[in-house]
Amino acid sequence: MRIFVTGATGQLGSEMPRAFAGHEIIPGMRPDFDLTAEHSVRGAVEAAQPDLVIHSGAYTDVDGCEHDPERAYRTNALGTRYVALAAHAAGIPLVVLSTDYVFDGTKGAPYLEWDDPRPLSVYGRSKLAGEREALTLHDRCYVVRTSWVYSPRRRNFVTTMLRLASERPKLTVVDDELSAPTLAADLADAIRRLVERRVYGIYHLSNAGSCSRYELACRTLALAGLDAEVVPVSSEEYRQHNPLPARRPANSTLQNLAGAALGIELPPWESALRRFLESYRP
Ligand SMILES: NC(=O)c1ccc[n+]([C@@H]2O[C@H](COP(=O)([O-])OP(=O)(O)OC[C@H]3O[C@@H](n4cnc5c(N)ncnc54)[C@H](OP(=O)(O)O)[C@@H]3O)[C@@H](O)[C@H]2O)c1
Repeated sequence: MRIFVTGATGQLGSEMPRAFAGHEIIPGMRPDFDLTAEHSVRGAVEAAQPDLVIHSGAYTDVDGCEHDPERAYRTNALGTRYVALAAHAAGIPLVVLSTDYVFDGTKGAPYLEWDDPRPLSVYGRSKLAGEREALTLHDRCYVVRTSWVYSPRRRNFVTTMLRLASERPKLTVVDDELSAPTLAADLADAIRRLVERRVYGIYHLSNAGSCSRYELACRTLALAGLDAEVVPVSSEEYRQHNPLPARRPANSTLQNLAGAALGIELPPWESALRRFLESYRP
């Protein structure tokens, strides 16, 4: 297969050449490829002549989206419209990445693929708009929601905790935000298995289990052998000292029902974190 990947420089996109070894990856990258320009998206997909598009590009700065909603919608909603139209015109399937932040986190149990979304932030609303664009405009589409992605590339919660723990004796981390940390490499492998099945629709693919940000920080530092103290605080308390513009869901853990029914499940988050830390070098 020839696979056109948007967001090819990102955490997930950069795992695709390894996950799809034996296939040809055509990366869509700025400045040549710009999700916010219709002609750029259409031209790049037409020129690539791919058999599949994986759309992992997005404006992922959750607080940045709150400050600049127009950029969020232009990238995450309109950009996805352009990608969906280009894939549809080419007659090829499409994978669109989305997020647990489409949910408000009040369910009190993991979210099923069919639960009603109710995003709390501009980022969540713009990603939900992107899902709807894709599902409306393209009938051969997988929408893959995931959560708390980390990888050796780019800044993410895990690498930030490692950096801060080597700079400070004490870290303050919220203990009332729950979801599943997801290793980008495991997610890329699951997407490869998913597209082999050709069963289109909405999927929840995260590493199995869930934890709080506080538990994730503690486990990360323990496995890395760092002895900074981790102090749990409520998100309300944390916001008093570190104002964050975007609201986050309290428990946005995703239940993978549709993928599991096809035999597609990701390993537990703890074993993924251990694997990551065994080879991670800052
Ligand atoms: N990170 C998470 O915790 C998380 C959680 C749930 C869902 N997701 C979703 O999973 C997907 C992959 O996330 P990720 O963590 O791999 O993201 P990431 O590391 O932030 O990478 C985002 C990618 O999108 C590209 N991009 C941004 N704006 C663009 C534009 N206007 N035109 C073209 N490319 C553009 C970036 O290119 P540059 O290199 O040029 O910036 C980068 O390659 C996204 O759809 C995200 O919404 C992520």
